[in-house]
Amino acid sequence: MKLWGGRFTKETNELVHNFNASLSFDQKLYKQDIEGSIAHVTMLAAVHILTEEERDKIVEGLKGIQTDIENGTLKFTEEHEDIHSFVEAHLIERIGDTGKKLHTGRSRNDQVALDMKLYTRDEVISVNELLKELLNELHTIMKQNTETYMPGFTHLQKAQPVTLAHHIGAYFEMFKRDRGRLHDIYERMNYSPLGAGALAGTTYPLDREQTASLMGFYGPSLNSMDSVSDRDYLIEFLSALSTIMMHLSRFCEEIIVWNTNEYRFVEIDDSYSTGSSIMPQKKNPDIAELIRGKTGRVYGALISILTTMKGLPLAYNKDIQEDKEFTFDAIDTVKGCISLFTSMIKTMKFRKNVMEASAKNGFTNATDAADYLVNHGVPFRDAHGIVGQLVLFCIDKNIALDDMSLEEFQAISPVFQKDIYEAISMKTCVDKRMTIGAPGPEAMRKVIELNEKYLKE
Ligand code: ARG
Repeated sequence: MKLWGGRFTKETNELVHNFNASLSFDQKLYKQDIEGSIAHVTMLAAVHILTEEERDKIVEGLKGIQTDIENGTLKFTEEHEDIHSFVEAHLIERIGDTGKKLHTGRSRNDQVALDMKLYTRDEVISVNELLKELLNELHTIMKQNTETYMPGFTHLQKAQPVTLAHHIGAYFEMFKRDRGRLHDIYERMNYSPLGAGALAGTTYPLDREQTASLMGFYGPSLNSMDSVSDRDYLIEFLSALSTIMMHLSRFCEEIIVWNTNEYRFVEIDDSYSTGSSIMPQKKNPDIAELIRGKTGRVYGALISILTTMKGLPLAYNKDIQEDKEFTFDAIDTVKGCISLFTSMIKTMKFRKNVMEASAKNGFTNATDAADYLVNHGVPFRDAHGIVGQLVLFCIDKNIALDDMSLEEFQAISPVFQKDIYEAISMKTCVDKRMTIGAPGPEAMRKVIELNEKYLKE
């Protein structure tokens, strides 16, 4: 059944029907469509546009449609243009003329705006919950590793020693900000477009506050033209999802590097790795690579909707139908990636001794050796030069600073005494970094405590 055949004298060309139709993808919105319609007729009865009997008949019909979609007896068939026509046609088929009153005071423009908002609102919440599970996992790793030394990098060159808790803590902050963004989006988007009509409201005395509150919105949106054509919340959500993917992708990149034979900092569990069809020795970090790879398609969804919206005059234009497929894909992609990533790191082993040895062998304590000299009265620039000589000496001998004998230290600078070993030990180097945000275990424990509170909120 068509919703708009009246003023037409010819059948729609089949290609046009197919090109125009959105049921193949907007069927995902069936639940939201029915929820919105129930709220709408509840309100129509409250303002005496429908009788209570009519309302009950429509509500019962709609619920039956939902049940039959869910138990598989009602199939989405191609003759319907979109989910809105599909539900309405089946309602009329089931309950007769009363079903024709469902669309009183409503347009598919405010209907689709509502459905998409309801759908997105739920997804904002579920992405937020998945991120919380990920943060709980990171929190556990942090608590266990405040004294697990590893090299910190700049330019992917070993720089200064940090701890695993500190490194993981950087990602904790990123995903915490991601959740903050989701929270902000929810607050801004949670206003109901229902009642905006096609673009200019309606002449019926609709109670928009009532439908808004029936569906858990803070209230009705305040401009009907904006209401039917606003997709800012999708742009914001896709932007937040893109940032989440960027963070996951950075993390995956590190895991891929850490999992190489050269680094061996971590070992991804067998159940989260895959083999090669030709090279028997291989165990590949495919999951991490795929998450890194899927980042592009989520960015693609963001660019797509930004481009779709950029030239649109007010109010609704059919271009807006393009808001759905990429958005659905991006949401499903991100949810899948967060879940898989969380279970991958849950089962991943950290090789603590390899990490610590790597920190030692990379002169990550060179700055601390220079600080030692400064504390003994050597100007920093001279200290920098002296430690540079130590490093050259060690590279030549293929040893770490800690492996030099005191005589060797003193041959380069007599300022060195035997307390140099303690001064440049991994433990000292890390322990002394005590300012909040630094890797020193003392400072880390304060942050972990704050994180603990945050996770309980
Ligand atoms: N399938 C359409 C969409 O997704 C529904 C709204 C149609 N409105 C219209 N005036 N043709 O945007």
